[in-house]
Amino acid sequence: MIEEDFIALEFERRTTEQSVREADAFYQTMRKRRSVRDFSSDPVPMQAIHNALLTAGSAPSGANKQPWHFTVVTDPSMKREIRLAAEAEEREFYQRRAPDAWLADLAPLGTDDQKPFLEEAPCLIGIFLKKFNATEEGNKSKNYYTSESVGIATGMLISALHIAGFATLTHTPSPMKFLNQIMKRPNDERAFLLLVVGYPAEGAKVPNIRKLPLDVTSSFFCADSPCD
Ligand SMILES: Cc1cc2nc3c(=O)[nH]c(=O)nc-3n(C[C@H](O)[C@H](O)[C@H](O)COP(=O)(O)O)c2cc1C
Repeated sequence: MIEEDFIALEFERRTTEQSVREADAFYQTMRKRRSVRDFSSDPVPMQAIHNALLTAGSAPSGANKQPWHFTVVTDPSMKREIRLAAEAEEREFYQRRAPDAWLADLAPLGTDDQKPFLEEAPCLIGIFLKKFNATEEGNKSKNYYTSESVGIATGMLISALHIAGFATLTHTPSPMKFLNQIMKRPNDERAFLLLVVGYPAEGAKVPNIRKLPLDVTSSFFCADSPCD
């Protein structure tokens, strides 16, 4: 280990009360995040999008390979192209490819093959997964745990956008290969998902769904019993 290659960690130790309060405050903010499918066309400030992307880029990743690329689109003609290509795939999905069980799971969300939000929302962010990075010599260097890493970065991006005051939709038209062509990304990158970003339309509604309670999502084995 070379000493100069390490720097002091920036870390602020909180009191127990602060930690509990901060974690609760974050939860109270994050629980209001909902997937929105009805957007206003009001533009979003690009500086805020840059900051949210910096947050995403600060995510942990396998061997710090940062195997992601984010493509931001606000250009109306490109959004239209993306909508048309996504709707073509979604038509196939809803009419032919989707198994009945999947369609039944989607029914409460009220989704179908029409994706007007891809044009109406001011901003689309294509997220691409890189199995390889290019080295300075022009060779390919393998990336590790790419799905995990890009998933974490995407979660951080969604959280940052929510905290900045934007509504988002995680959209996965399947297959998404058309995004490589429209967003001008190389073929060896995998379109991971498409994030729709903007403000909700006036009076926007969301499905009345529930999140699982803590005792279903989590188990605890604690030093003190009971865990509290
Ligand atoms: C990986 C992933 C893919 C998704 N794909 C779509 C999609 O293609 N279209 C859509 O309308 N919603 C999509 N969603 C949104 C989910 O339907 C939504 O997150 C879920 O119903 C829970 O609702 P909430 O986000 O409001 O909590 C996707 C979410 C995730 C995490």
